[in-house]
Amino acid sequence: MRAALLLVLVGAGSARAGPASDAFLESETVTASPAQSVPTTPGDPLWMKAPVASFRVSAQRSVRLNDKRANELLGQPGFGEVRVRALASATELGVLLTWNDASRNVLPADDTNAYPDAAAIEIPSVFGAGHRLPYVGMGDVELPVRLYLQRKAPKGTQANEYVAAGFGSLTRVPRIQATMAMEYDEQLKLWRAVFVRPLQVEGHALTQSSLVPMAFAVWDGARSERGGYKQLSAWRFVLLPRPALDAAYVKYLSWGYAPGDLGDPAKGRAIAETVCIACHRLPGKTVASPGIAPDLFDIGAIASPIYLRESITNPNGVIIHAVNPNAHYSKASPPDKNGAYPNADAYQWSTTLPGGKIVSKMPPFTMFTPEQVGDLIAYLKTLDGTKEPEPR
Ligand code: HEC
Repeated sequence: MRAALLLVLVGAGSARAGPASDAFLESETVTASPAQSVPTTPGDPLWMKAPVASFRVSAQRSVRLNDKRANELLGQPGFGEVRVRALASATELGVLLTWNDASRNVLPADDTNAYPDAAAIEIPSVFGAGHRLPYVGMGDVELPVRLYLQRKAPKGTQANEYVAAGFGSLTRVPRIQATMAMEYDEQLKLWRAVFVRPLQVEGHALTQSSLVPMAFAVWDGARSERGGYKQLSAWRFVLLPRPALDAAYVKYLSWGYAPGDLGDPAKGRAIAETVCIACHRLPGKTVASPGIAPDLFDIGAIASPIYLRESITNPNGVIIHAVNPNAHYSKASPPDKNGAYPNADAYQWSTTLPGGKIVSKMPPFTMFTPEQVGDLIAYLKTLDGTKEPEPR
């Protein structure tokens, strides 16, 4: 099915397939089947007509809650994958997520120690040739994302739409421009969740490119997952029937998928364990103080090769907001009149220059050769969250 599709696309001259773009399209995309209209119920049989793709999700460790039980549970294997199908009509795009879950957890009426099962998708505000991908953890300052979140409520589904520009910067869209519903299948022990949205909504078009970047998140209430505590995929792509496949965008996104793009993980590890551990904690090498920089334990599962290349060679290209800078205080300085100590600057991941420009605390590693960068990325891609970090 997929091979036939590629032939059609190549035959139409819309994209020059090479080994990298073939490998990228094969592993990172799900093709939206054309439909007269997109069903809004998860059980609709039309969904089964669309091809399915399985995408890995990994537990997010960059966020640390003050919750011992949840922290322990997060160390155990999560769902592992979500299966995604997509349907596109002339005016709408819909995706159906399916994932196995042994128990159904519903939004609690009053028990504040219970959490609901939930699912979300995010889509960059701008995408297509000439645009990098935003930080997958809810976007970044320059590139916000649209976020569609649904949680199972005792009656129906609680659905919200947000614009996010990094952790802690969620703005709810007052009038939801999407339809969402999720249903638990008691027999198969799995969730089905649909997200249906017009291709055009105010301020956001999905037709900017035929490849719509999308990341998927699922929450397991039984593991006390909530908020930033979730299982997240890397950016994947929904391939729309129209417009024609964007060759320049495919070429950009598929760096790292051709044999030889990435180097030797052993060499990369040697560099990382000398240079990068000054700030980042790596499996088995946790000398940096937690919070100085994002943990990289599962970076390989949530970041694409091109994102990693840009993160290393141009840290100012993507600036991630510190997850929890206010958790650290500097007692070296005097407290303010309310007795509060200033935030410890070391835990801010960026610095605001006098002119207002925000720069990353990570130095640009321009001294590395392209081979060394390839080695580093080959190593980072092996970090998929399965190698246990040491407890904090
Ligand atoms: C001086 C401290 C420092 C050093 C040394 C450092 N980094 Fe970073 N790094 C940071 C900070 C702070 C951030 C978050 C801010 C940003 O996005 O630039 C970051 C972000 C990253 C990200 C993005 C993380 C994500 O979750 O998306 C990657 C990848 C990364 N660094 C890789 C490396 C590699 C590889 C090295 C070694 C070659 C390295 N870093 C060395 C401080 C550092």
